[in-house]
Amino acid sequence: MGKVLIVYFSVTGKTKTMAEFIAEGVRFTGNEGEIKKINEIKDVNALNGYDAYIFGCPTYHKDITENMKTFLFLAKNANLEGKIGGAFGSHTHSGEAPKIIYETMEHVYKMNMVNLGYLLLKEGQVGTFEGNRACQDYGRAVGNMIV
Ligand SMILES: Cc1cc2nc3c(=O)[nH]c(=O)nc-3n(C[C@H](O)[C@H](O)[C@H](O)COP(=O)(O)O)c2cc1C
Repeated sequence: MGKVLIVYFSVTGKTKTMAEFIAEGVRFTGNEGEIKKINEIKDVNALNGYDAYIFGCPTYHKDITENMKTFLFLAKNANLEGKIGGAFGSHTHSGEAPKIIYETMEHVYKMNMVNLGYLLLKEGQVGTFEGNRACQDYGRAVGNMIV
């Protein structure tokens, strides 16, 4: 059984809900899906020991949030090269955050990114049947990459 770490930030709970359904999708594949809030990651050691990493952040002011920027600098030191990765987030209209995270994981950390790309949901989709299923499918796709 592999282990997938899902780290997220969420102000109003939408991205948190996405994290929970992504973790469920991971578990459908027989792997462990562990969810952590971004402020629970105190140092680089908290990122050790996982097969895959999925990071989530909502878009505020067409950007990722400051704590996610700090987290991404920390994760740079976790030697994630070759590890499986994915990114997600909720938004209302422009949705830059998951793309920024996904591209950092792909190009800076050189991770093996899920070929679905990043998962971006409009906040009205979060918690709907289709939205929940999209999150489960995303988690399942990441889980299925673990051999
Ligand atoms: C002050 C503010 C700025 C926002 N800026 C953007 C934005 O630039 N682009 C966008 O797509 N959504 C923007 N949003 C919408 C949030 O991304 C959206 O409400 C999202 O679902 C929040 O996710 P959360 O519940 O995980 O915090 C903004 C929301 C607020 C309150």
